[in-house]
Amino acid sequence: MTMNRRDFLKCGACACLASSLSNFDLSGFPKAFADEALSNLKVVDFTLKIGATKPFTAVHISDTHLTFADERETERKQKLAKDRLRYFGKSETNLRAAVTYAKEKDAVLLHTGDMVDFLSDKNFEFVSSFYAEDGMVPHFVSSGNHEFSHYLGEAKEDEAYKMQSFDRVQKAFPNDLRFCSRVINGVNFVAFDDVYYYVADDVIERFEKEVEKGLPIVTMCHVPFYTPELYRFMIEDQKERISYTIGVPSGKNERAGDENTMKFLEWLKTQPLMKAHISGHLHVNHVDQFSEYAKQYVVGGNFKGDVFVYHFE
Ligand SMILES: [Fe+2]
Ligand SMILES: [Fe+2]
Repeated sequence: MTMNRRDFLKCGACACLASSLSNFDLSGFPKAFADEALSNLKVVDFTLKIGATKPFTAVHISDTHLTFADERETERKQKLAKDRLRYFGKSETNLRAAVTYAKEKDAVLLHTGDMVDFLSDKNFEFVSSFYAEDGMVPHFVSSGNHEFSHYLGEAKEDEAYKMQSFDRVQKAFPNDLRFCSRVINGVNFVAFDDVYYYVADDVIERFEKEVEKGLPIVTMCHVPFYTPELYRFMIEDQKERISYTIGVPSGKNERAGDENTMKFLEWLKTQPLMKAHISGHLHVNHVDQFSEYAKQYVVGGNFKGDVFVYHFE
């Protein structure tokens, strides 16, 4: 499927289980269909030797963009849901296939946002029951910009807009969407909010407490960090107007990162314990060096089958 990222962004700111291939379950889908869904995943594997106390695997997906909307929604939203299916018709299938894959690999599931395309009762009912399903793999998430979108681009997307729906969104998701950490086999995963291209004022203060733990850190958020190479990739190779990253230096032809965000990213670059950063939002895969110590892994769209698998050692 060929599509440009701007098609999606009408807004400016816009405990492990093992199973085997023979008994996997895509929640009611016929076996042949499930096989096909699994074979459609585009899996890229990485080995990260970062000091895990025990080797483990994580399946990283992002940008599922579920488009459920039923009669509880306005006609406008029901129409939006139908229209968006043009892009996101395989979202649920690919999400379930990724979980099935994670079960098969005895892996943790990491999701870096845009699980839903827009706010709707049915989207959030799906998300909360999905993460609570029997047999769900261990998981950890960050939110995306679309989690807070009512109609996609109908209003300025800022903190006030986010706060209109924050509590409703938070209820559906399994961990704190503002800032949250989770230690898995000696690796400290730290997820935080950067969905509108900035970070919270107290983010360094909160990170310092994570650094004090002395464990290798993997950071996760939705919008990738600016790097010269990622910027070049988005503008030159992907032919995008802007890079859709946070912390863009001033003098580029797009909104520069604010002072607090720039300060945070510069600080993060000096942290030897930060071993990797994972994100999404771009709907296209990209891997690049973020700092002397950490690579940034941007996974493409779960809606089109993109999956990164990390073997942590
Ligand atoms: Fe997205
Ligand atoms: Fe996004």
